[in-house]
Amino acid sequence: MRKYINDSFPHFLHGGDYNPEQWIANKEIWDEDMRLLGEANCNELTVGIFSWATIEPEEGKYDFSFLDEIIEKIHNAGGKIVLATPTGSRPRWMAEKYPEVLRVAENGQRNLYGTRHNHCYTSPVYREKAAAINRRLAERYGKHPAVVAWHISNEYSGRCYCPLCEEKFREYLRKKFDNDINKLNHAYWSTFWSHNYTSFDQIEFPSSRGETVIHGLNVDFRRFVSEMTIDFMSEEIKALREFSDLPATTNLLRPVYDLDHWKLAKVLDVISWDSYPEWHSPRHENEAYERGFYHDHYRTLKNRPFMLMESAPGLVNWMEFNKLKRPGMDRLAAIQAVAHGSDTVQYFQWRKGRGSSEKFHGAVVDHVGTSDTRVFKAVKATGETLKHIDEICGTMPEVKVALIYDIENRWALDDSQGFCRKNKKYFETVTTYYKAFWKRGITVDIVNAHADLSKYDLVVAPMLYMTDKDTVESFTKYVENGGTLYATYMLGMVDENDLCYLGGFPANGLKDVFGIWNEEIDTLYPQDSALVKCNCGKEFVAKDYCEIVHARGAKVLAEYASEFYAGSPALTVNEYGKGKAYYQTFRDGGDFWDTIAGSILAELDIHGPIKADLPELVTAHQRQDGDDFYLFVENYSGKPVENLSLEGEYIDMETGDKATSVSLGEFDVKIFKKI
Ligand code: GLA
Ligand code: ZN
Repeated sequence: MRKYINDSFPHFLHGGDYNPEQWIANKEIWDEDMRLLGEANCNELTVGIFSWATIEPEEGKYDFSFLDEIIEKIHNAGGKIVLATPTGSRPRWMAEKYPEVLRVAENGQRNLYGTRHNHCYTSPVYREKAAAINRRLAERYGKHPAVVAWHISNEYSGRCYCPLCEEKFREYLRKKFDNDINKLNHAYWSTFWSHNYTSFDQIEFPSSRGETVIHGLNVDFRRFVSEMTIDFMSEEIKALREFSDLPATTNLLRPVYDLDHWKLAKVLDVISWDSYPEWHSPRHENEAYERGFYHDHYRTLKNRPFMLMESAPGLVNWMEFNKLKRPGMDRLAAIQAVAHGSDTVQYFQWRKGRGSSEKFHGAVVDHVGTSDTRVFKAVKATGETLKHIDEICGTMPEVKVALIYDIENRWALDDSQGFCRKNKKYFETVTTYYKAFWKRGITVDIVNAHADLSKYDLVVAPMLYMTDKDTVESFTKYVENGGTLYATYMLGMVDENDLCYLGGFPANGLKDVFGIWNEEIDTLYPQDSALVKCNCGKEFVAKDYCEIVHARGAKVLAEYASEFYAGSPALTVNEYGKGKAYYQTFRDGGDFWDTIAGSILAELDIHGPIKADLPELVTAHQRQDGDDFYLFVENYSGKPVENLSLEGEYIDMETGDKATSVSLGEFDVKIFKKI
């Protein structure tokens, strides 16, 4: 069953952020935009994102004339609208009259008016003003036939250290610890350095001016910031719901550090995100698979098609080097999102502004104002492709593998004092594990440590240092019931309060599941390495971390061949219940994981839509629904690909020709339907 963003429009959306209020004195531009929309093969515009000062120029005085007019124009031009709440940036009058809406920095100083996202999510005034304008927007446009979704605020992020927020934090902790300060003291191990609390009123935010060493407090602070942001967003949505039940989304910004996307996703109907890769940079290859990782992450959050809410036509303006996308790359990056489950391709921005900080940011329509530009034509070509593949909209990929990326674990790991202190490389490590799947065209769900694992054949859990009791239980059940679990060094060291497990790592019963005991961890200097020898005879390199692990029932598949721990396990596997639990004790300094992944995937008969090895930087993905099977073949390399076998009979969805093989130009993608 296909699941659409909005059932009233079961098609791909192709469009993006539009700021017509910047052109209010040149309305001929509005008319030109409406004409260009169709010419670009676009069918959507996102409006209202930063329009607060235009629609509420004075407190309580609303003027919707500009929105009324532009919404009608877009509707008449046959376009759909994603309508934003304007809370990402406020009018000046609000900061002047109610300074509490402004954010307070970590040093305790209140910010001045300026930039955006500079507001306190706790402030009752800000919440009230946001709800008031949202309510009016919903009442006026919430049932308009052209409006297909709500875009809530813009890229929620950041923290505020004001007294209102601090009091809320105390409230949050009172609730968490049943108003019992001793429970908090125990969880925070606060007798360390005599930091015991005697009352919740003594709690201050962790900050470089004061408390930094209580790790439990640090991780709770992050949980709190995330919760306050989500709470603010829920209130925004609640106000809209009084008049409108259109699907609500918010444009997420990568996995933002302070935001728990899993909790946030519960409040939203649809997930959307803003993707700005550094194509053609020294990170080009990383970008190719990391984008796949992010897209998979956003699809997994609600297990339904997501929206690519923003991407740059041509280039951005805020990177160190703002390089143009090479021919083909705009279309390839757009279709990459679709291949991973996006049902929209949207851009920031439709038209370049004349002034201020984003005037040189890529746009569909450049300052020249015509359609005769390379970028406009690239957008048009993507639109053409989307029209041909429209029936894919609403389908999902088949997924058998889950990779755990857990934000609370990242907070705790980064904060931990030990190992390599500065850079634990959690994200880099997780995406290295991801890469082995990506290059084989195997779609992966990116889950957190509390996901239901029962539907997966294989679960990979790199560096899961913070492993709470629920996760220990869920891992145990998963393996008992026949799952294959692959975990690495640092598994199960601390609980949800960042307290070390006693009785040996990994936590509690995991020692039995994996059949091991992890006694010590060696952190290597960057220039160091250790040797690992696999039972298959091959040698590999270990970097950064080598654990000294004892096999207690597990079979050893690889061991160290250098250092004083030579002969101790580097990879183990344990049969437990009906399943298997693998444990890798070191950081892979080469292609160890890729080799092991190859044999585990073969054993489990998990493969991509094309089974043969694909050329470097070429991959293939699938989406399907019932008997409909769609194949995307993507070439991220600057080299053409000739006659790659599709291993089946397909129709090229753009040409209508039958195909059993594919040739691709550089930065090219082709889409097929199985016959
Ligand atoms: C973010 C914002 C947009 C714009 C773009 C520029 O994603 O949401 O408003 O500033 O960045 O790349
Ligand atoms: Zn605040």
